[in-house]
Amino acid sequence: MHKPKTNSLHSVSLSLAAIALMSACASTQAIDSPEQHQPPTIQGYTIGTHAVAKAPITLAELEELKGSLLMTDEDIKYLRMSHDVLEPHVDELVGVWYGFVGSTPHLLKYFSNEAGEPDMEYLGRVRARFVVWVLDTAKANYDQDWLDYQFEIGRRHHRVGKNKTDDANAVDHIHFRHLSALTIPVTTTLKPFLERGDHTAEEVDKMHAAWVKSVLMQTILWSYPYVGEDDF
Ligand code: HEM
Repeated sequence: MHKPKTNSLHSVSLSLAAIALMSACASTQAIDSPEQHQPPTIQGYTIGTHAVAKAPITLAELEELKGSLLMTDEDIKYLRMSHDVLEPHVDELVGVWYGFVGSTPHLLKYFSNEAGEPDMEYLGRVRARFVVWVLDTAKANYDQDWLDYQFEIGRRHHRVGKNKTDDANAVDHIHFRHLSALTIPVTTTLKPFLERGDHTAEEVDKMHAAWVKSVLMQTILWSYPYVGEDDF
């Protein structure tokens, strides 16, 4: 097993490490939607007790987006290869990402109230869903449930849905510019974890490249409430 290499993002202060110990649970808050039809789980994981609205694009349109991103079946293969590498370390991985957000004031503010005080309970609850997201991203099972839930994640970053799942009292909207930007720290800090499996350097590079495409693709899907339906 390889030790992760240290880089500037990976070595950021884990000032919010205590959050790792918080056992978060899914909220019972409901988000009203005219098109509710989904059960409260996705790929076996509980994501809350509310239903998720149907995606505004089709699976065929998702395939087109994958084409624009040069995401191929080989990328899907390498995403799935990453699953078993990451699963044993997923809490630690999410802790590194939380360390980055926690040590970056202009990002931490989105988990904080208007007075600038971080909401530790909110951070802990979201963290549990982040763990689920890592494993779902690695499963790369792009079915209708997955597609529907992508648009739910987008709403949860936007003022139409932020804070509602956890009944949080944080600032109510995340500016979109930071969503796609975080593709880079998220996937850069991921790479040392991909090196922990028994895979060659070439396979690690391919897993990493597939993750970059997947995270970028997801932030594009999450842009829907920001862009508006006519322009999306
Ligand atoms: C590549 C970029 C990003 C990724 C992969 C990501 C991932 C996630 C995931 C998986 C969730 C939980 C979704 C769920 O409820 O199931 C979430 C929620 C959240 N994220 Fe992000 N995120 C990104 C960008 C950002 C940025 C830039 C911020 C700003 C600090 C942010 C702040 C939040 C907050 C506050 C929530 C909770 C939203 C709520 O109230 O439900 N995220 N994110």
